[in-house]
Amino acid sequence: MTKNVRITMIGTGYVGLVSGVCFAALGHLVTCIDKDKNKISKLQNAEIPIYEATLKELVDENLANQRLFFNTELKSAVESAEVIFVAVGTPTCVVTGKADLQYVEGLARELAPLLTAYKVIVLKSTVPIGTGQQFKKIIQTINPQAKFDMVSNPEFLREGSAVTDFMDPDRIVIGSETDRSQNLMKAIYYPFLQKQIPILYTDIESSELIKYAANCFLATKIAFINEVADLCEKTGANIENVIQGLGLDKRIGAGYLQPGPGFGGSCFPKDTLALIQIAEELACPLSVVEAVVQSNEHRKKKMIQKIVNICGGDVTGKRLGILGVAFKANTDDIRESSAMVIIQGLQKLGAKLRVYDPAAMEKAATELPGVDWAHSAVEVMRDAEVLVIITEWEEFKNLKFNNLDKKPIIIDLRNLYDLQEMKKMRVSYHSIGRPAVKSQAQVQVLMED
Ligand code: UGA
Repeated sequence: MTKNVRITMIGTGYVGLVSGVCFAALGHLVTCIDKDKNKISKLQNAEIPIYEATLKELVDENLANQRLFFNTELKSAVESAEVIFVAVGTPTCVVTGKADLQYVEGLARELAPLLTAYKVIVLKSTVPIGTGQQFKKIIQTINPQAKFDMVSNPEFLREGSAVTDFMDPDRIVIGSETDRSQNLMKAIYYPFLQKQIPILYTDIESSELIKYAANCFLATKIAFINEVADLCEKTGANIENVIQGLGLDKRIGAGYLQPGPGFGGSCFPKDTLALIQIAEELACPLSVVEAVVQSNEHRKKKMIQKIVNICGGDVTGKRLGILGVAFKANTDDIRESSAMVIIQGLQKLGAKLRVYDPAAMEKAATELPGVDWAHSAVEVMRDAEVLVIITEWEEFKNLKFNNLDKKPIIIDLRNLYDLQEMKKMRVSYHSIGRPAVKSQAQVQVLMED
């Protein structure tokens, strides 16, 4: 059953690059194609355009083994492939909120005349339900002789842990219409079959919907726990206990119940909006997901208000230190990052901000003029009156507040610290859904205000 499949991956964005490289690591022969010549020539020299742990090692290894190739030439890569993966972007259309399919559909038109021998075409991009059939129609209209099967095979990779997620998935979803295409997909994923990782075979439409439903469900869990955390703050309950009590129920599960400043990134915000649009067009509104989007938008404003309140109602001229601009740890991605919204909001209110992030400052700098960028977390802490932790980077979990001459008030929007430890350190510490720890100094400041 072991067979090395000749794969062409079209699109070397996050999904295409990680998946292509990992398929090569599984033993397949992979050519990754992109129109961006500069990017391809860098990749040929193992220069990685994204921030992703262990990807560079895999690229080095598989370039050397001659199992991985990077090219801009679509025609020959299609001709030599047995399976063609489509991993081009489906950004949100700013006018409609729908997924913009111009790149997917454009590719179908480009591929159509090239399909002279049988190929399997796999949509890996996150696409609205029905896109697989639409892709097929475009090809058949342009080239009625084309021999191919369509497959949907969504990805469930998280930025920052994408290689591990690929190599050790909870499940693999394959939506297909023929035994021939299903068998080729089985050959590609054979190492996972051997490891008894569940592989779910469905029709194309169900597979397309699974991807959106999974992201929307995870986003729902986060929005839900954020609101429950608010309720904890009002009632004196502790969100950590509540999460434990919920997570131990196997029907609920412990994952994605970490409260924070609101979900961000390139997926949850985009996919929740896209599924709402899809459902609306079909007159089948998803009121739960609509509420999730609203709740998440409100969340960011609420965080700004929380900071202002802790500062005594006014941040004008206050020296605020901010830790984290990336939408989560282990990435340099700032797309839809709550940190960006919070920082911009605080700037507007007149706060003086010094900011540090281990990876995302370069990307954030152009969008955040007026910010004083620091070289380290310690530099941010040193003369901040208030320290706000927004991204859960590992290095922010072990800061030593004891050594500071003047301890800032700490507002931790990721619950990185243990309440008892903070009490021992005698700092004023505010987190999410847990009782505040107030030092004597802060009580005095607030009284003076
Ligand atoms: C998400 C999904 O988790 C992946 O399965 C999916 O493949 C990917 O989108 C995609 O569609 O391509 P990603 O956006 O990389 O992955 O990031 P996550 O780790 O899921 O986090 C998303 C956001 O939720 C972040 O802002 C994070 O801080 C927040 N989050 C996550 C919480 O606030 N609480 C949690 O418990 C978990």
